[in-house]
Amino acid sequence: MTSYKGVDHYATVRERVNDLFRSTESVQAIFDGVCAILTETLPHYTWAGIYLVEGNDLVLAAWRGPAATEHVRIPIGEGICGYAAAHGESIIVPDVSKDPRYLQCFAETRAEIVVPILAGDRVLGEIDVDSNQLNAFGAADQEILEELADRLASTILKGDRA
Ligand code: SME
Repeated sequence: MTSYKGVDHYATVRERVNDLFRSTESVQAIFDGVCAILTETLPHYTWAGIYLVEGNDLVLAAWRGPAATEHVRIPIGEGICGYAAAHGESIIVPDVSKDPRYLQCFAETRAEIVVPILAGDRVLGEIDVDSNQLNAFGAADQEILEELADRLASTILKGDRA
C-alpha cells in the first residue's frame, strides 16, 4: 500500500471515483475523470489511458499524462496491451526493458500495468498505466484497477445516459 505522509492514496482514489460516478453518467466524462484521478492521486502513475476494443484493435478512448501516445490503435495481440486483451488477464511488467512484448510509447517509462475491462469472458477494453519508476506496481494497484475496470464495464454496457 503506497502511503505518503500518512495519506492513503488508494482510499483517495476510491472516494474521488465514487464522487465522479455520482456526478455524471457520461461515458466519456467517466473515462476522462478516471484517467485524471489516477494520475493526480497516485504519485507513481505517470500516464493512464483507457483503450476500447473495436473489431481486432484496441482504440484509445481517454488518457491523462505528460504527453500523447502515438499508439492510439493497437492490434489485439501486439504489445503488453494487446497481450492483456488477447488473454483477458491483468499484466504487471516491473521492467519494460526486459519484456519483449513491450511497445514503447515514452522513453521515460520503466514499468507498466494493464488490466482488462471484462464483461464475463468478453474483453471490452482495458486500463493501461505507465510509470517512470522501475518496479512501480504491485497487488494494491492490480486490486484498485480491477475494481475500476468492473465499474467501467458496467458504464460501457449501460451506454451514454447523459
Ligand atoms: N506500452 C504499451 C503500449 C501503449 S503505451 O504504453 C500508452 C504496450 O506495450 O502495449
